Amino acid sequence: MSSTEGLDLSGLPQHVAIIMDGNGRWAQKRGLPRTMGHRAGMDALRATVKALDAMGIKYMTVYAFSTENWKRPEEEVGMLMSLIREYIYKELMALHRQKVRISVIGDSAQLPEDVRKKMDDAVAKTKDNPGMRFCIALNYGGREEIVRAARSLAERVQAGELLPREIEREEFAACLYTAGMPDPDLIIRTSGEMRVSNFLLWQGAYAELVVTDCLWPDFREEHVHKAIKEFQMRQRRFGGISEGS
Ligand code: FPP
Repeated sequence: MSSTEGLDLSGLPQHVAIIMDGNGRWAQKRGLPRTMGHRAGMDALRATVKALDAMGIKYMTVYAFSTENWKRPEEEVGMLMSLIREYIYKELMALHRQKVRISVIGDSAQLPEDVRKKMDDAVAKTKDNPGMRFCIALNYGGREEIVRAARSLAERVQAGELLPREIEREEFAACLYTAGMPDPDLIIRTSGEMRVSNFLLWQGAYAELVVTDCLWPDFREEHVHKAIKEFQMRQRRFGGISEGS
């Protein structure tokens, strides 16, 4: 049962993005294969979606597979793809009942055909849901996303549809995978690493970063609440100065 008791529900972030890190270490600590850490990470994901949704968060994005993750051993990549398939198979109906709308960001062309199809089906099935938008970054890389946007604007300029001087931030943002979504206000990273790792590079320009030592498979509602409270204590200045300074 999710409880939002003790949380200040005013001043919540609109969009929470999460770098789910530490699955491998979690497994190693227990003498298990790394892939068991990813499997345990699915429980953390289920709990986190529920907790953020219960709180009334409008958008969440998780970094499920980066463009760099293909460098991992073939067996681990295969297992991650299977888990993503399994997650959608097992969770889709529950997410749909929760009125969650699923989105996927990243270069889906390189994903195994059946994973892409499952994702497309999940997106189509939930597209009219009015609840939290749950965005899964799959084969996602921030730099690749920016290059892709630049290429698409260059093509439009070449086709005579756009003048270079008409390219402002809004036109650029509209070419990103996240077009139409607000930027993340809060990026949570688990397992203590202080890096952004090519995640939402454009969108996260002013996001507050909360890093917790908790390894992703152990992440639960209480950690979500702690991160939100930490966010609420931060003073966001967006490059300006605080009121009263
Ligand atoms: C990082 O831990 C985690 C990942 C690369 C994958 C995250 C995937 C899941 C939680 C599986 C479920 C996801 C979905 C969307 C169904 P790591 O392996 O880098 O850990 P380490 O830094 O301890 O080695």
